[in-house]
Amino acid sequence: MSAYPKDLDLGWRRRLRSRVLRWYGQNGRTLPWRKSADPYRIWISEIMLQQTTVAAVVPYFERFIERFPDVHRLAEAEQGQVLRLWEGLGYYSRARNLHKAAGVVVHEMDGRFPESAEELKQLPGIGPYTAGAISSFAFNQPAAILEANTLRLYSRLIELDIDPRGTEGQKKLWKFAGWIVSRRRAAEFNQAVMDIGSQVCRPVDPNCPTCPLMPSCRSYEAGRQSEIPLEKPKPQITDVTEVSVAVKKGGRFLLRQRAENERWAGLWDFVRFEVRDADVANVQMPERRRTRVTAALPGQRSLFADDDAKSLPRLPISLSERVNELTGTIVTLYEPIIEIEHAVTRYRIRLLCLVCDFDHGRLKQGAGYQWCSRNQLRSLPLSTTGRRFAQLLDSCR
Ligand code: ADE
Repeated sequence: MSAYPKDLDLGWRRRLRSRVLRWYGQNGRTLPWRKSADPYRIWISEIMLQQTTVAAVVPYFERFIERFPDVHRLAEAEQGQVLRLWEGLGYYSRARNLHKAAGVVVHEMDGRFPESAEELKQLPGIGPYTAGAISSFAFNQPAAILEANTLRLYSRLIELDIDPRGTEGQKKLWKFAGWIVSRRRAAEFNQAVMDIGSQVCRPVDPNCPTCPLMPSCRSYEAGRQSEIPLEKPKPQITDVTEVSVAVKKGGRFLLRQRAENERWAGLWDFVRFEVRDADVANVQMPERRRTRVTAALPGQRSLFADDDAKSLPRLPISLSERVNELTGTIVTLYEPIIEIEHAVTRYRIRLLCLVCDFDHGRLKQGAGYQWCSRNQLRSLPLSTTGRRFAQLLDSCR
């Protein structure tokens, strides 16, 4: 049982700090946002890195900085442009808050980021970790940081015997993070502990023999490195089936912008709704187009090219009624395009993407649906699945 901080003395801390910094000098990763101490770049990278891996973030970060090189350029952008560059990263409230916070920094702070974690935390979307990261990386302030990698590393170092995500565990770890951070070299120290956490002190199979902190580690000493940190209970996964219907009128499609209180707020989407499996039991999806959303799409051949419209199936009544209820349009025949399986938080979604022909009807007032050209489709921000669907539509006649 750890009795932090009673049994960890100043000598232990001094040795640990020097081991961390020495290791970082030789092994620290070169990452695009580490090339300068610009708080703007650090802020963008840290927001992107929440819930997303370093490898996935790098190209997004570079594109984002090229398009919005400083906080002024970001503040004057349209929210849609910011969301378009965020497409595929998910958790879109991060992008909306980023845009909001840029406005606050420019209009209320004279374009300058505050240096202290306390002040940074007042900005939209900046929580305790991001505040500590910006304050320490950009301004070398001895601010505490705690995210997934440091949580694991610190839990093992002090042999934390309770849930590290619970109230008590968080209190102990944040206190430890503030106590341990180097006073003179906080920027290097905090980046180093994240790297040690992700590269060496891995979740499964920690590489203790190569760890610079092995001599300081209480869990290693007790042989408990595989059991600490205590695991969090796995979330229950719920299966959901949805359809996404691209209602087609000439060369245009029906889309609407998702509202503030919805999933993917601010992004545009086709007519999309949840269904019961029985509603789509007769919808035949082409097996070969079944996919998971992962990689970007290569160019596709026309999906309609050799289809005979007369042979197209009819949309089940339950689906066409739902489309009518939502949009006011009456649609007739459908073409199955792709089935996508994807995960959103604790939901596993099976999404059937269908194209329907507009037959007649007037757009429902106040529902927000608009006919969008293919060009608009290319520039509007869409969800990852929406973009995948749109790319397939793009290559059909
Ligand atoms: N994960 C979150 N922030 C990070 C950073 N600055 N460097 C590496 N991994 C990270």
